Amino acid sequence: MNILITGANGQLGTEMRLLSLSHPQHQYFFADVMAVDNTPTYSLDITDEAAVAALVNEQHIDCIVNCAAYTNVDRAEDDEPTALRINADGVACLAKAAAQYGARIVHISTDYVFSGDEHQPCRETDPVAPRTAYGRTKLQGEQVLQTICQDAIIIRTAWLYSPFGNNFVKTMLRLSQDHSTLRVVFDQIGTPTYAADLATAIFAAVESEQWHAGIYHFTNEGVCSWFDFTHEIMRQAGKQVAVQPILSSEYAYRTPRPHYSVLDKAKIKATFGIEIPHWTESLQKCLQRLNEME
Ligand SMILES: NC(=O)c1ccc[n+]([C@@H]2O[C@H](COP(=O)([O-])OP(=O)(O)OC[C@H]3O[C@@H](n4cnc5c(N)ncnc54)[C@H](OP(=O)(O)O)[C@@H]3O)[C@@H](O)[C@H]2O)c1
Repeated sequence: MNILITGANGQLGTEMRLLSLSHPQHQYFFADVMAVDNTPTYSLDITDEAAVAALVNEQHIDCIVNCAAYTNVDRAEDDEPTALRINADGVACLAKAAAQYGARIVHISTDYVFSGDEHQPCRETDPVAPRTAYGRTKLQGEQVLQTICQDAIIIRTAWLYSPFGNNFVKTMLRLSQDHSTLRVVFDQIGTPTYAADLATAIFAAVESEQWHAGIYHFTNEGVCSWFDFTHEIMRQAGKQVAVQPILSSEYAYRTPRPHYSVLDKAKIKATFGIEIPHWTESLQKCLQRLNEME
């Protein structure tokens, strides 16, 4: 298969690139808005309809995995049009090219399409009600994709982290270097997602004997608050830092955050026969890699 991976320099894109080495039967085309030195990456802005179509056509792409997105939740609040351009118009460009040249598409979305007011794990069929600009633009991306490509696979995920880019794990480790106490909210509940595990699930979907279109949810197993997550990061990393639970109302959020956004993963596990590690196990793997990278 010829596989185009967009947003290839992001957290998930980087894990897809690394995991592709274990799937050498395919030919890969890694693309990002900015090509990075020393990585064989195509320069491709997903909002450039002509450029997307040309690449998909000329390289005979069979499958697009869209890891590109506007992911800064706070900045999206101030600049929704730019977020919309990337998270919806860019997805439409990819969808049109996929439809025109017979490629399949796997697209990544977010728990932010839900209100965050739920009390039980969200299923794929639960009503969506985004509360943020980021969530609204990601939902529009899902909708435009499903309109153009009825056979698209959409995987919603949450709390993504990896050894690369900016994420909560790296921020907390950085803060632990010059703070003796970390105050972290304990009234927002979800599940961390190790990007390498999500990449494994994406490969399972792409390589499945049958193409199973539809929306899926993927995070690691387990449930925790950001406070619990931080506590475990510090414990596993051996940091002597006090972690203090606080309420969201005590933290000056610029953008409302979901109080409860646990995703139900029964569908993805049953459809693709995957086993998902508990978040604490995957955190250990990430910390080990971060150590090795120091
Ligand atoms: N991070 C999370 O906690 C989280 C949670 C739930 C869902 N998700 C979803 O998971 C997916 C992967 O997230 P991630 O954390 O890996 O994101 P990321 O690290 O921000 O990577 C996104 C990549 O897309 C690139 N990009 C931005 N605009 C582009 C454009 N117009 N054309 C091509 N590439 C473009 C970015 O480049 P620049 O950096 O130069 O902009 C970046 O390299 C996204 O769909 C995101 O919405 C993430």
